[in-house]
Amino acid sequence: MGLIQLQIDGKKVEVPAGTTVLEAAEQTGIHIPRLCHDPELSPWGGCRLCIVEIEGMRNLPASCVTRVAPGMVVRTDSPAVVEARRAILELLLANHPLDCLTCEKNGECKLAEYCYVYGVKESPFRGEKHNYAVEDSNPFIIRDQNKCILCGKCVRACAEITGKNNLDFAYRGFNTRVSTFGNSSLLESDCVFCGNCVSVCPTGALMEKQMQNKARRWELKRVKTTCPFCGTGCNFD
Ligand code: FES
Repeated sequence: MGLIQLQIDGKKVEVPAGTTVLEAAEQTGIHIPRLCHDPELSPWGGCRLCIVEIEGMRNLPASCVTRVAPGMVVRTDSPAVVEARRAILELLLANHPLDCLTCEKNGECKLAEYCYVYGVKESPFRGEKHNYAVEDSNPFIIRDQNKCILCGKCVRACAEITGKNNLDFAYRGFNTRVSTFGNSSLLESDCVFCGNCVSVCPTGALMEKQMQNKARRWELKRVKTTCPFCGTGCNFD
């Protein structure tokens, strides 16, 4: 496979053809913010937080779905990029509960983290907010769609990792939401409660029920363990 030379934030980079700009930046030690990208899932380009400036291009392309090209000159933190990222975060916050202090995801919410990084404390945009009922009718997962940012990671994880296709986008515009078939609860759907959707969710939209009111994330320690649930004995940490 041929190698492509380009420049990212003034650094010369050489990566295999087919690499995305986000991956190339990562290999150079440059972190590009992302909400819908996950290396385990197919690229989607939905959240737009990973936008970058590329010399010669008038728009700001999403780096997670843009392939490198010879001689590309990329800037990941130009004033235009920073301003656009702030606007994206403000738009997301416009329809998001501001209950971070009591949210179970506090401490590992990617939306909160990037709002902090970009100094976004509130949204200048005022409008209707979702008021979905929180779903906790099953023993494993709490689903709060008011906190969903429609990044689609749960949809892809269900299809690509679990192989179930139990989740998909439904409705349009403001009413767009992630839904099971027939908009049933997780318990009434084909969900196998594997937890893959929960583990990729960047916000508090999908949470482990067992964790509720137990401890804050920063109080926990990761350990190697064996899942006792189905008897297969999968190891994970
Ligand atoms: Fe690239 Fe969401 S991370 S568009």
